[in-house]
Amino acid sequence: MSTALRKPLWGIVLVGLVVFGVVASGCIGGTTESTAGTQSAKLEGKIVFAVGGAPNEIEYWKQVITEFEKAYPGVTVELKRQATDTDQRRLDLVNALRAKSSDPDVFLMDVAWLGQFISSGWLEPLDSYVQKDNYDLSVFFQSVVNLADKQNGNLWALPVYVDAGLLYYRTDLLKKYGYDKPPETWDQLVEMAQSIQQGERKDNPNFWGFVWQGKQYEGLVCDFVEYVYSNGGELGYFKDGKWVPTLNKPENVQALQFMVDLIHKYKISPPSTYTEMTEEPVRLTFQQGNAAFERNWPYAWGLHNANDSPVRGKVGIAPLPHFPGHKSAATLGGWHIGINRYSDNKEIAWAFVKFVESYEQQKNFAIKLGWNPGRTDVYDDSDVLKAAPYLKDLRSVFENAVPRPIVPYYPQLSQILQKYVNAALAGSMSPQKALDEAQKEAEELVKQYG
Ligand code: GLC
Repeated sequence: MSTALRKPLWGIVLVGLVVFGVVASGCIGGTTESTAGTQSAKLEGKIVFAVGGAPNEIEYWKQVITEFEKAYPGVTVELKRQATDTDQRRLDLVNALRAKSSDPDVFLMDVAWLGQFISSGWLEPLDSYVQKDNYDLSVFFQSVVNLADKQNGNLWALPVYVDAGLLYYRTDLLKKYGYDKPPETWDQLVEMAQSIQQGERKDNPNFWGFVWQGKQYEGLVCDFVEYVYSNGGELGYFKDGKWVPTLNKPENVQALQFMVDLIHKYKISPPSTYTEMTEEPVRLTFQQGNAAFERNWPYAWGLHNANDSPVRGKVGIAPLPHFPGHKSAATLGGWHIGINRYSDNKEIAWAFVKFVESYEQQKNFAIKLGWNPGRTDVYDDSDVLKAAPYLKDLRSVFENAVPRPIVPYYPQLSQILQKYVNAALAGSMSPQKALDEAQKEAEELVKQYG
Protein backbone atom coordinates (compact mmCIF):
# COMPACT_ATOMS: atom_id res chain seq x y z
CA MET A 1 0.00 0.00 0.00
CA SER A 2 1.25 3.43 -0.86
CA THR A 3 2.32 5.53 2.07
CA ALA A 4 1.33 8.67 0.20
CA LEU A 5 -2.26 7.55 0.29
CA ARG A 6 -2.30 6.31 3.77
CA LYS A 7 -0.99 8.49 6.52
CA PRO A 8 -1.75 7.15 9.99
CA LEU A 9 -3.02 9.84 12.31
CA TRP A 10 -2.41 8.14 15.60
CA GLY A 11 1.07 9.48 16.16
CA ILE A 12 -0.22 12.92 15.51
CA VAL A 13 -3.02 12.55 18.02
CA LEU A 14 -0.39 11.67 20.57
CA VAL A 15 1.76 14.62 19.60
CA GLY A 16 -1.29 16.82 19.90
CA LEU A 17 -2.02 15.50 23.35
CA VAL A 18 1.54 16.02 24.49
CA VAL A 19 1.36 19.57 23.21
CA PHE A 20 -1.82 19.94 25.16
CA GLY A 21 -0.13 18.63 28.28
CA VAL A 22 2.34 21.47 28.06
CA VAL A 23 0.01 24.27 27.03
CA ALA A 24 -2.89 24.49 29.45
CA SER A 25 -6.35 24.52 27.95
CA GLY A 26 -7.52 27.63 29.72
CA CYS A 27 -4.54 29.42 28.30
CA ILE A 28 -5.51 28.62 24.73
CA GLY A 29 -9.15 29.52 25.31
CA GLY A 30 -8.06 32.74 27.02
CA THR A 31 -5.90 33.83 24.11
CA THR A 32 -8.75 33.42 21.65
CA GLU A 33 -11.17 35.35 23.82
CA SER A 34 -8.83 38.25 24.37
CA THR A 35 -8.01 38.37 20.64
CA ALA A 36 -11.73 38.60 19.95
CA GLY A 37 -12.00 41.38 22.50
CA THR A 38 -9.25 43.58 21.03
CA GLN A 39 -10.31 43.14 17.45
CA SER A 40 -14.03 43.48 17.92
CA ALA A 41 -13.80 47.26 18.17
CA LYS A 42 -12.12 47.51 14.76
CA LEU A 43 -14.21 45.11 12.72
CA GLU A 44 -17.36 46.27 11.01
CA GLY A 45 -19.35 44.83 8.15
CA LYS A 46 -21.12 41.75 6.92
CA ILE A 47 -19.95 38.36 5.77
CA VAL A 48 -21.77 35.42 4.22
CA PHE A 49 -20.95 32.00 5.62
CA ALA A 50 -21.98 28.99 3.51
CA VAL A 51 -22.57 25.73 5.33
CA GLY A 52 -24.68 22.59 4.88
CA GLY A 53 -25.19 19.38 6.82
CA ALA A 54 -27.86 17.61 8.85
CA PRO A 55 -30.72 19.88 10.07
CA ASN A 56 -29.46 19.85 13.69
CA GLU A 57 -26.02 20.96 12.48
CA ILE A 58 -27.49 23.95 10.64
CA GLU A 59 -29.43 24.90 13.78
CA TYR A 60 -26.22 24.67 15.75
CA TRP A 61 -24.34 26.93 13.30
CA LYS A 62 -26.99 29.58 13.91
CA GLN A 63 -26.01 29.59 17.58
CA VAL A 64 -22.32 29.86 16.70
CA ILE A 65 -23.11 32.87 14.54
CA THR A 66 -25.12 34.53 17.32
CA GLU A 67 -22.19 34.10 19.72
CA PHE A 68 -19.75 35.45 17.13
CA GLU A 69 -21.92 38.50 16.53
CA LYS A 70 -22.00 39.09 20.28
CA ALA A 71 -18.20 39.03 20.41
CA TYR A 72 -18.00 41.34 17.38
CA PRO A 73 -20.88 43.83 17.74
CA GLY A 74 -20.08 45.64 14.47
CA VAL A 75 -20.32 42.47 12.43
CA THR A 76 -23.21 40.53 10.91
CA VAL A 77 -22.98 37.03 9.50
CA GLU A 78 -25.50 35.76 7.01
CA LEU A 79 -25.85 31.99 6.98
CA LYS A 80 -26.18 30.64 3.48
CA ARG A 81 -27.76 27.27 3.94
CA GLN A 82 -26.40 24.56 1.69
CA ALA A 83 -27.57 21.01 1.03
CA THR A 84 -26.72 18.03 3.22
CA ASP A 85 -25.03 16.19 0.37
CA THR A 86 -21.34 16.98 -0.15
CA ASP A 87 -21.52 16.87 -3.98
CA GLN A 88 -24.29 19.48 -4.02
CA ARG A 89 -22.42 21.63 -1.53
CA ARG A 90 -19.36 21.53 -3.75
CA LEU A 91 -21.24 22.44 -6.93
CA ASP A 92 -22.93 25.34 -5.20
CA LEU A 93 -19.53 26.78 -4.21
CA VAL A 94 -17.87 25.96 -7.52
CA ASN A 95 -20.53 27.97 -9.36
CA ALA A 96 -19.92 31.03 -7.18
CA LEU A 97 -16.13 30.74 -7.24
CA ARG A 98 -15.86 30.15 -11.00
CA ALA A 99 -17.81 33.39 -11.41
CA LYS A 100 -15.31 35.08 -9.03
CA SER A 101 -18.19 36.03 -6.77
CA SER A 102 -17.29 37.58 -3.41
CA ASP A 103 -20.21 35.72 -1.82
CA PRO A 104 -19.90 33.53 0.23
CA ASP A 105 -16.91 35.02 2.06
CA VAL A 106 -16.15 31.97 4.12
CA PHE A 107 -17.27 28.34 3.87
CA LEU A 108 -16.76 24.78 4.93
CA MET A 109 -15.11 22.38 2.49
CA ASP A 110 -15.03 18.62 2.44
CA VAL A 111 -11.47 17.31 2.78
CA ALA A 112 -12.15 15.53 -0.52
CA TRP A 113 -12.42 18.76 -2.50
CA LEU A 114 -9.52 20.68 -1.06
CA GLY A 115 -7.20 19.57 -3.88
CA GLN A 116 -9.55 21.06 -6.47
CA PHE A 117 -10.22 24.30 -4.56
CA ILE A 118 -6.55 24.94 -3.91
CA SER A 119 -5.36 24.18 -7.43
CA SER A 120 -8.15 26.34 -8.89
CA GLY A 121 -6.92 29.35 -6.92
CA TRP A 122 -10.25 29.93 -5.19
CA LEU A 123 -8.91 30.17 -1.64
CA GLU A 124 -7.19 33.00 0.19
CA PRO A 125 -3.82 31.84 1.55
CA LEU A 126 -3.95 32.05 5.34
CA ASP A 127 -0.19 32.33 6.00
CA SER A 128 -0.06 36.11 6.43
CA TYR A 129 -3.05 36.07 8.81
CA VAL A 130 -1.42 33.33 10.87
CA GLN A 131 1.83 35.25 11.05
CA LYS A 132 0.24 38.57 11.91
CA ASP A 133 -1.69 37.04 14.82
CA ASN A 134 1.04 34.66 15.83
CA TYR A 135 -1.69 32.06 15.56
CA ASP A 136 -0.85 28.66 17.04
CA LEU A 137 -1.24 25.98 14.39
CA SER A 138 0.29 23.22 16.51
CA VAL A 139 -3.04 22.55 18.24
CA PHE A 140 -4.55 21.05 15.08
CA PHE A 141 -4.14 17.50 13.81
CA GLN A 142 -0.78 17.95 12.14
CA SER A 143 -1.15 15.03 9.77
CA VAL A 144 -4.48 16.32 8.53
CA VAL A 145 -3.18 19.87 8.14
CA ASN A 146 -0.07 18.63 6.32
CA LEU A 147 -2.02 16.28 4.11
CA ALA A 148 -4.93 18.50 3.18
CA ASP A 149 -4.60 22.15 4.24
CA LYS A 150 -0.96 22.86 3.42
CA GLN A 151 -0.24 22.48 -0.24
CA ASN A 152 2.29 24.10 -2.60
CA GLY A 153 3.99 25.83 0.33
CA ASN A 154 0.92 27.68 1.66
CA LEU A 155 -1.79 27.16 4.25
CA TRP A 156 -5.25 27.29 2.65
CA ALA A 157 -7.74 26.09 5.26
CA LEU A 158 -8.05 24.65 8.77
CA PRO A 159 -9.83 21.48 9.91
CA VAL A 160 -13.10 22.13 11.75
CA TYR A 161 -13.75 18.45 12.34
CA VAL A 162 -12.22 15.19 11.28
CA ASP A 163 -14.43 12.29 10.22
CA ALA A 164 -13.73 8.57 10.07
CA GLY A 165 -16.16 5.78 9.19
CA LEU A 166 -17.45 3.82 12.21
CA LEU A 167 -19.60 0.79 12.94
CA TYR A 168 -22.67 1.50 15.08
CA TYR A 169 -24.45 -1.49 16.60
CA ARG A 170 -27.41 -2.23 18.85
CA THR A 171 -26.00 -3.36 22.19
CA ASP A 172 -29.39 -4.72 23.32
CA LEU A 173 -29.87 -6.84 20.19
CA LEU A 174 -26.37 -8.28 20.28
CA LYS A 175 -27.06 -9.40 23.81
CA LYS A 176 -30.52 -10.75 22.96
CA TYR A 177 -29.06 -12.93 20.19
CA GLY A 178 -26.15 -14.18 22.29
CA TYR A 179 -23.24 -12.04 21.08
CA ASP A 180 -20.93 -10.52 23.64
CA LYS A 181 -19.02 -8.19 21.36
CA PRO A 182 -19.32 -6.48 17.97
CA PRO A 183 -17.97 -8.23 14.86
CA GLU A 184 -14.30 -7.94 13.96
CA THR A 185 -14.48 -9.42 10.48
CA TRP A 186 -16.98 -8.82 7.70
CA ASP A 187 -17.95 -12.51 7.80
CA GLN A 188 -18.81 -12.20 11.48
CA LEU A 189 -20.92 -9.14 10.72
CA VAL A 190 -22.85 -11.09 8.06
CA GLU A 191 -23.48 -13.99 10.42
CA MET A 192 -24.66 -11.75 13.26
CA ALA A 193 -26.75 -9.50 11.03
CA GLN A 194 -28.49 -12.48 9.42
CA SER A 195 -29.38 -14.05 12.73
CA ILE A 196 -30.62 -10.78 14.29
CA GLN A 197 -32.55 -9.85 11.13
CA GLN A 198 -34.28 -13.24 11.02
CA GLY A 199 -35.36 -12.92 14.63
CA GLU A 200 -36.45 -9.29 14.51
CA ARG A 201 -38.36 -9.66 11.23
CA LYS A 202 -40.96 -11.74 13.12
CA ASP A 203 -42.23 -8.55 14.74
CA ASN A 204 -40.81 -5.94 12.42
CA PRO A 205 -40.92 -6.63 8.66
CA ASN A 206 -38.93 -3.44 8.02
CA PHE A 207 -35.90 -4.64 9.95
CA TRP A 208 -32.48 -4.90 8.22
CA GLY A 209 -29.20 -6.38 9.41
CA PHE A 210 -26.84 -3.71 8.12
CA VAL A 211 -27.32 -0.26 6.58
CA TRP A 212 -24.66 1.79 4.80
CA GLN A 213 -24.18 4.42 2.11
CA GLY A 214 -24.63 2.98 -1.42
CA LYS A 215 -26.38 5.68 -3.45
CA GLN A 216 -24.46 7.14 -6.41
CA TYR A 217 -22.70 9.98 -4.55
CA GLU A 218 -19.51 10.77 -2.65
CA GLY A 219 -20.50 8.76 0.43
CA LEU A 220 -20.47 5.58 -1.66
CA VAL A 221 -16.83 6.18 -2.54
CA CYS A 222 -16.05 6.55 1.17
CA ASP A 223 -17.69 3.20 1.93
CA PHE A 224 -16.00 1.54 -1.06
CA VAL A 225 -12.58 2.74 0.17
CA GLU A 226 -13.23 1.04 3.52
CA TYR A 227 -14.02 -2.37 1.97
CA VAL A 228 -11.10 -2.07 -0.44
CA TYR A 229 -8.47 -1.13 2.16
CA SER A 230 -9.81 -3.61 4.73
CA ASN A 231 -9.13 -6.26 2.08
CA GLY A 232 -5.55 -5.13 1.42
CA GLY A 233 -6.55 -3.35 -1.82
CA GLU A 234 -5.94 0.25 -2.89
CA LEU A 235 -7.36 2.81 -5.30
CA GLY A 236 -3.96 3.87 -6.54
CA TYR A 237 -0.57 5.23 -5.51
CA PHE A 238 1.70 8.17 -6.19
CA LYS A 239 4.76 7.66 -8.36
CA ASP A 240 7.07 10.59 -9.13
CA GLY A 241 4.36 12.97 -7.97
CA LYS A 242 1.78 11.46 -10.32
CA TRP A 243 -1.19 9.42 -9.19
CA VAL A 244 -1.43 5.95 -10.72
CA PRO A 245 -4.88 4.31 -10.54
CA THR A 246 -5.19 0.62 -9.62
CA LEU A 247 -8.98 0.46 -9.43
CA ASN A 248 -9.41 -3.07 -10.79
CA LYS A 249 -6.93 -4.85 -8.50
CA PRO A 250 -8.25 -8.33 -7.56
CA GLU A 251 -8.56 -7.27 -3.89
CA ASN A 252 -10.77 -4.34 -4.95
CA VAL A 253 -12.96 -6.56 -7.13
CA GLN A 254 -13.40 -8.98 -4.21
CA ALA A 255 -14.30 -6.10 -1.92
CA LEU A 256 -16.91 -4.83 -4.35
CA GLN A 257 -18.31 -8.34 -4.77
CA PHE A 258 -18.78 -8.43 -1.01
CA MET A 259 -20.68 -5.12 -1.08
CA VAL A 260 -22.94 -6.55 -3.80
CA ASP A 261 -23.44 -9.72 -1.77
CA LEU A 262 -24.55 -7.76 1.30
CA ILE A 263 -27.59 -6.70 -0.73
CA HIS A 264 -28.22 -9.54 -3.19
CA LYS A 265 -26.82 -12.71 -1.62
CA TYR A 266 -26.89 -12.29 2.15
CA LYS A 267 -29.85 -9.91 1.86
CA ILE A 268 -28.95 -8.08 5.05
CA SER A 269 -28.87 -4.64 3.36
CA PRO A 270 -31.95 -3.24 1.61
CA PRO A 271 -32.16 -2.80 -2.19
CA SER A 272 -32.73 0.90 -1.44
CA THR A 273 -29.01 0.92 -0.51
CA TYR A 274 -28.08 1.76 -4.10
CA THR A 275 -30.98 4.11 -4.81
CA GLU A 276 -31.45 6.12 -1.61
CA MET A 277 -28.93 5.41 1.09
CA THR A 278 -26.94 8.52 1.99
CA GLU A 279 -25.88 9.35 5.56
CA GLU A 280 -29.24 10.62 6.78
CA PRO A 281 -31.51 7.80 5.50
CA VAL A 282 -28.99 5.32 6.91
CA ARG A 283 -28.96 7.09 10.27
CA LEU A 284 -32.73 7.31 10.42
CA THR A 285 -33.23 3.63 9.57
CA PHE A 286 -30.98 2.67 12.47
CA GLN A 287 -32.34 5.32 14.80
CA GLN A 288 -35.95 4.24 14.20
CA GLY A 289 -34.97 0.79 15.42
CA ASN A 290 -34.93 -0.79 11.96
CA ALA A 291 -31.33 -2.03 11.76
CA ALA A 292 -28.82 -3.97 13.84
CA PHE A 293 -25.65 -2.43 12.34
CA GLU A 294 -24.93 0.88 10.67
CA ARG A 295 -21.90 2.41 8.97
CA ASN A 296 -21.79 6.12 9.60
CA TRP A 297 -19.63 9.07 10.66
CA PRO A 298 -19.28 10.27 14.28
CA TYR A 299 -22.11 12.82 13.97
CA ALA A 300 -24.70 10.01 14.26
CA TRP A 301 -23.72 9.31 17.89
CA GLY A 302 -25.22 12.46 19.36
CA LEU A 303 -28.44 12.01 17.41
CA HIS A 304 -28.79 8.33 18.32
CA ASN A 305 -28.50 9.29 21.96
CA ALA A 306 -30.74 12.35 21.85
CA ASN A 307 -33.75 12.44 24.22
CA ASP A 308 -36.23 11.66 21.46
CA SER A 309 -34.21 8.80 19.92
CA PRO A 310 -35.84 5.34 20.15
CA VAL A 311 -32.38 3.73 20.37
CA ARG A 312 -31.00 6.07 23.04
CA GLY A 313 -28.67 4.17 25.38
CA LYS A 314 -28.73 1.04 23.19
CA VAL A 315 -25.97 1.98 20.79
CA GLY A 316 -22.34 0.89 20.70
CA ILE A 317 -19.55 2.06 18.40
CA ALA A 318 -16.65 -0.02 17.11
CA PRO A 319 -14.06 0.12 14.37
CA LEU A 320 -15.43 -1.18 11.06
CA PRO A 321 -14.78 -4.89 10.43
CA HIS A 322 -12.07 -6.17 8.09
CA PHE A 323 -11.52 -9.15 5.81
CA PRO A 324 -9.53 -12.10 7.24
CA GLY A 325 -5.81 -11.39 7.45
CA HIS A 326 -6.25 -7.63 6.96
CA LYS A 327 -6.82 -4.57 9.12
CA SER A 328 -9.87 -2.45 9.69
CA ALA A 329 -9.93 0.72 7.59
CA ALA A 330 -11.86 3.95 8.02
CA THR A 331 -12.07 6.59 5.32
CA LEU A 332 -10.70 9.95 6.33
CA GLY A 333 -13.44 12.54 5.99
CA GLY A 334 -14.04 15.86 7.60
CA TRP A 335 -14.68 19.51 6.91
CA HIS A 336 -12.30 22.42 6.67
CA ILE A 337 -12.91 26.15 6.81
CA GLY A 338 -11.44 28.52 4.25
CA ILE A 339 -11.82 32.05 2.92
CA ASN A 340 -12.96 33.00 -0.57
CA ARG A 341 -10.08 34.64 -2.47
CA TYR A 342 -12.59 37.11 -3.95
CA SER A 343 -14.14 38.08 -0.60
CA ASP A 344 -14.35 41.81 0.16
CA ASN A 345 -14.27 41.15 3.89
CA LYS A 346 -11.34 38.86 4.48
CA GLU A 347 -10.45 40.27 7.91
CA ILE A 348 -13.92 39.52 9.25
CA ALA A 349 -13.83 36.13 7.58
CA TRP A 350 -10.52 35.39 9.32
CA ALA A 351 -11.98 36.48 12.67
CA PHE A 352 -14.81 34.04 12.03
CA VAL A 353 -12.37 31.23 11.17
CA LYS A 354 -10.54 31.84 14.46
CA PHE A 355 -13.79 31.89 16.38
CA VAL A 356 -14.93 28.55 14.89
CA GLU A 357 -11.51 27.08 15.69
CA SER A 358 -11.37 28.45 19.26
CA TYR A 359 -11.07 25.98 22.15
CA GLU A 360 -14.57 26.80 23.37
CA GLN A 361 -16.31 26.30 20.02
CA GLN A 362 -14.35 23.16 19.19
CA LYS A 363 -15.20 21.70 22.57
CA ASN A 364 -18.87 22.44 21.96
CA PHE A 365 -18.79 20.79 18.55
CA ALA A 366 -17.70 17.59 20.27
CA ILE A 367 -20.24 17.88 23.08
CA LYS A 368 -23.26 19.17 21.17
CA LEU A 369 -22.76 17.52 17.79
CA GLY A 370 -20.52 14.55 18.52
CA TRP A 371 -17.94 15.74 15.99
CA ASN A 372 -14.24 14.89 16.25
CA PRO A 373 -12.76 18.36 16.60
CA GLY A 374 -9.93 19.46 14.31
CA ARG A 375 -8.10 20.71 17.43
CA THR A 376 -6.42 17.97 19.40
CA ASP A 377 -6.28 19.91 22.67
CA VAL A 378 -9.98 19.51 23.43
CA TYR A 379 -9.89 15.68 23.44
CA ASP A 380 -8.80 15.47 27.06
CA ASP A 381 -11.31 18.01 28.28
CA SER A 382 -13.39 16.31 30.98
CA ASP A 383 -16.69 17.65 29.57
CA VAL A 384 -15.80 16.27 26.15
CA LEU A 385 -14.84 12.88 27.59
CA LYS A 386 -18.12 12.70 29.45
CA ALA A 387 -20.31 13.61 26.47
CA ALA A 388 -18.45 11.58 23.87
CA PRO A 389 -16.51 8.81 25.63
CA TYR A 390 -16.00 6.93 22.37
CA LEU A 391 -13.72 9.72 21.13
CA LYS A 392 -11.08 8.38 23.50
CA ASP A 393 -11.86 4.67 23.01
CA LEU A 394 -11.82 4.92 19.27
CA ARG A 395 -8.76 6.99 18.73
CA SER A 396 -7.12 3.91 17.24
CA VAL A 397 -9.62 4.09 14.39
CA PHE A 398 -7.51 6.95 13.16
CA GLU A 399 -4.57 4.61 12.85
CA ASN A 400 -6.28 3.32 9.75
CA ALA A 401 -7.88 6.49 8.45
CA VAL A 402 -7.41 6.33 4.70
CA PRO A 403 -7.56 9.57 2.72
CA ARG A 404 -9.13 9.57 -0.70
CA PRO A 405 -6.54 10.49 -3.35
CA ILE A 406 -5.62 14.15 -2.88
CA VAL A 407 -5.46 15.23 -6.51
CA PRO A 408 -6.92 18.31 -8.24
CA TYR A 409 -9.17 16.11 -10.38
CA TYR A 410 -10.57 14.12 -7.44
CA PRO A 411 -14.20 15.22 -8.09
CA GLN A 412 -13.99 13.73 -11.62
CA LEU A 413 -12.33 10.57 -10.34
CA SER A 414 -15.04 10.28 -7.72
CA GLN A 415 -17.74 10.61 -10.40
CA ILE A 416 -16.22 7.63 -12.22
CA LEU A 417 -16.14 5.52 -9.07
CA GLN A 418 -19.63 6.56 -8.05
CA LYS A 419 -21.04 5.53 -11.41
CA TYR A 420 -19.37 2.12 -11.67
CA VAL A 421 -19.50 1.02 -8.04
CA ASN A 422 -23.18 1.93 -7.95
CA ALA A 423 -23.83 0.04 -11.21
CA ALA A 424 -22.31 -3.07 -9.63
CA LEU A 425 -24.47 -2.65 -6.51
CA ALA A 426 -27.57 -2.30 -8.68
CA GLY A 427 -26.62 -5.58 -10.38
CA SER A 428 -26.34 -4.01 -13.81
CA MET A 429 -22.61 -4.80 -14.17
CA SER A 430 -20.35 -7.41 -12.62
CA PRO A 431 -17.81 -6.04 -10.09
CA GLN A 432 -14.97 -7.05 -12.43
CA LYS A 433 -16.47 -5.30 -15.45
CA ALA A 434 -17.41 -2.24 -13.38
CA LEU A 435 -13.90 -1.78 -12.04
CA ASP A 436 -12.27 -2.54 -15.42
CA GLU A 437 -14.36 0.24 -16.94
CA ALA A 438 -13.63 2.56 -14.03
CA GLN A 439 -9.90 1.86 -14.42
CA LYS A 440 -10.02 2.73 -18.16
CA GLU A 441 -11.79 6.00 -17.49
CA ALA A 442 -9.48 6.86 -14.60
CA GLU A 443 -6.41 6.26 -16.79
CA GLU A 444 -7.87 8.64 -19.40
CA LEU A 445 -8.57 11.22 -16.72
CA VAL A 446 -5.03 11.06 -15.36
CA LYS A 447 -3.65 11.42 -18.92
CA GLN A 448 -5.84 14.45 -19.50
CA TYR A 449 -4.57 16.14 -16.34
CA GLY A 450 -0.98 15.30 -17.19
C1 GLC B 1 -18.86 13.26 5.45
C2 GLC B 1 -17.35 13.34 5.42
C3 GLC B 1 -16.87 13.79 4.05
C4 GLC B 1 -17.43 12.85 3.00
C5 GLC B 1 -18.94 12.83 3.08
C6 GLC B 1 -19.51 11.83 2.09
O1 GLC B 1 -19.43 14.51 5.39
O2 GLC B 1 -16.87 14.23 6.38
O3 GLC B 1 -15.47 13.81 4.01
O4 GLC B 1 -17.00 13.20 1.72
O5 GLC B 1 -19.36 12.49 4.36
O6 GLC B 1 -20.89 11.86 2.07
